[in-house]
Amino acid sequence: MSLLLHISDTHFGTEDPPVVAALQRLAATLRPDVLVLSGDITQRARRHQFAAARAFCDSLGIARILALPGNHDIPLFNLPARVLDPYGGYRAAFGADLEPELDGEDLLLLGVNTTRPARHKHGEVSKAQVARVARRLESARREQLRVVVTHQPACVMREEDEHDRLRGGHAAVQAWSRAGADLVLGGHIHLPYLTDACARVPDTPRALFCLQAGTALSLRVRHGSPNSVNVVRWTPPADHAPRECRVERWDYELAQDRFDCSHAHALRLAD
Ligand SMILES: [Fe+2]
Ligand SMILES: [Fe+2]
Repeated sequence: MSLLLHISDTHFGTEDPPVVAALQRLAATLRPDVLVLSGDITQRARRHQFAAARAFCDSLGIARILALPGNHDIPLFNLPARVLDPYGGYRAAFGADLEPELDGEDLLLLGVNTTRPARHKHGEVSKAQVARVARRLESARREQLRVVVTHQPACVMREEDEHDRLRGGHAAVQAWSRAGADLVLGGHIHLPYLTDACARVPDTPRALFCLQAGTALSLRVRHGSPNSVNVVRWTPPADHAPRECRVERWDYELAQDRFDCSHAHALRLAD
């Protein structure tokens, strides 16, 4: 079995120390195989914020990390850096590759850089990115859980979040569904939810679920949602058994000073 811990929008610089400690304890208990960090790692893309974020990730003791930049990981006020080297701080802490992949025995994780320095907040997925990811998905094996990671959400649940939805996100969902994706993970709006893309995006031919993470440990909680993270559990199916994964949301409970599982879903995936 593989256990994936999905966190997002840590916004280092605005982190809440008790929540940081609680998430370290949760990771020590769950012992995930993979950490996915879907952007907005820092609040203002400052070097010391990236260094704190990197130290935090390392402190979790998770063997594999797949991280992506979010719009907050691009300098906002430092105009020369924003124009000349927008990802310099991110790369120094998390590596040169802005679209990392993790191709393991039972997991295929594909990162997509949906930030655009010129747009600052709004995200976009280009036709070339959609095609590249689709090609990789088509080569996946049945025993692999196929997960695409973006920063901005590919699907939203509420009308008022439409302006934050990834530009090109619906076309991406259609193409990635066709190519065999099981899950699309994201963050950005600090609103945790799980939604069935087939019910939201017309012409989505194959089961595909969008899983959004709230802010893992920042004080920037919104929409009445507490700090939260997602956990995905995947056991590769036996020969003719259905493909299924379990998705859990863990919320930070202030009174108990710990993350507790608040939602759990068994998802039937396509073959
Ligand atoms: Fe954010
Ligand atoms: Fe964001």
